[in-house]
Amino acid sequence: MGHDFAPMKNDLIIRAAKGEKVERPPIWVMRQAGRYLPEYHEAKGGRDFFECCRDPEVSSTLTLQPIERFAGLIDAAIIFSDILVIPQALGMVVEMIDKKGPHFPTPLVSPDDGQYASVMAKDTLEAVEELEYVYRAITMTRKKLQGRVPLIGFCGAPWTLLCYMTEGGGTKLFVQSKTWLYKYPEATKALLQKIAEVCVEYLARQVQAGAQLVQVFDSWAGEMSPTSFRDFALPSLAYISENLPKRLAELGLEQVPMILFPKGAWYALDTVCSREASGGYDVIGLDWQHAPAEAVKTRGDRKIVLQGNADPGVLYGTKEAITATVKEMVEGFGWAERQSGWIVNLGHGITPFVKPDSLKFFLEEIHRQTKL
Ligand code: CP3
Repeated sequence: MGHDFAPMKNDLIIRAAKGEKVERPPIWVMRQAGRYLPEYHEAKGGRDFFECCRDPEVSSTLTLQPIERFAGLIDAAIIFSDILVIPQALGMVVEMIDKKGPHFPTPLVSPDDGQYASVMAKDTLEAVEELEYVYRAITMTRKKLQGRVPLIGFCGAPWTLLCYMTEGGGTKLFVQSKTWLYKYPEATKALLQKIAEVCVEYLARQVQAGAQLVQVFDSWAGEMSPTSFRDFALPSLAYISENLPKRLAELGLEQVPMILFPKGAWYALDTVCSREASGGYDVIGLDWQHAPAEAVKTRGDRKIVLQGNADPGVLYGTKEAITATVKEMVEGFGWAERQSGWIVNLGHGITPFVKPDSLKFFLEEIHRQTKL
């Protein structure tokens, strides 16, 4: 099922993700299509969030908004969707409540819960079939992009999805997810493995549809202890990075760079930079709590690309504050000496109320300060 997409005019991020030397560091921003953009609200109108995700025309329009607004300054698009489409595909109901965030009316309660059994019994291929609308959005977006920049596909990491599936939404205390972790460790491992299998198939289908890189968002990795990360999260992350390449090969598809964003897991940076431990991630996303120079030291001479990591909050600040943050990154990631090993991003998603012009200034500063 080959697609006839336009040749790439800008493939900087793909070359950088493979560890190649590049003319400037590629830039993209997590959540670059979203609530801080007035055109997002305009295009979304009064529609429900998941309804927008399910409509390839709307999803591709939203995906392209930052690419059009920041043309020439931004080097990748990320498909407009959400990590919570996997729980939906596994049969759970997820709603997006305006100004509040995601809500599961009936989260997973315990392994004796009938819903746990039905999630575990859901056929993986059947689950990913239900996400056909994502693949259609990806293909449509690739066509609309006409080779301007590569398109990133994504999924939520098993641990982060398990948190949402058990908590039923965002949380500060992690009461339910920690209960699962420490009271039902075997059922938790089985569920993480089930989600990992769905992730592999889901990412493979996104690549088949036209995604050119993939990112696994482990937004709640920082809630784990180093031991629970090693025993629970890491095996499911390694399962994804070891099996996606195999699945792509089976489907006769080209390999794509894989990015892991283990937010808050500073304690595991050395581990996730190790291919023996985490499988084959090419790029590790850093949140803003890493000092770039320290992260570079931890990576050492391993051929892993680091992505990040400005504090998203700096975009509420002055131009001077943005300039200083960019300078620290450019120096810390050793751009002038290496010209490789770095993809620019924020340390987490861009937040609402940021002025689009502040992001523009950040992007321009990166271009200015990395000119060779
Ligand atoms: O531009 C992009 O990055 C692509 C789109 C994207 C969205 N969600 C759109 C979205 C991506 C990559 C995600 C991933 C996602 N979703 C994550 C991982 C990244 C992270 O932030 O840690 C998580 C944890 C979610 C779950 C989720 N979705 C939450 C907690 C919320 C509410 C908070 C918020 O930011 O609004 C969402 C809603 C959501 N996902 C919106 C968007 C644009 C806002 C919906 C709206 O109110 O219009």
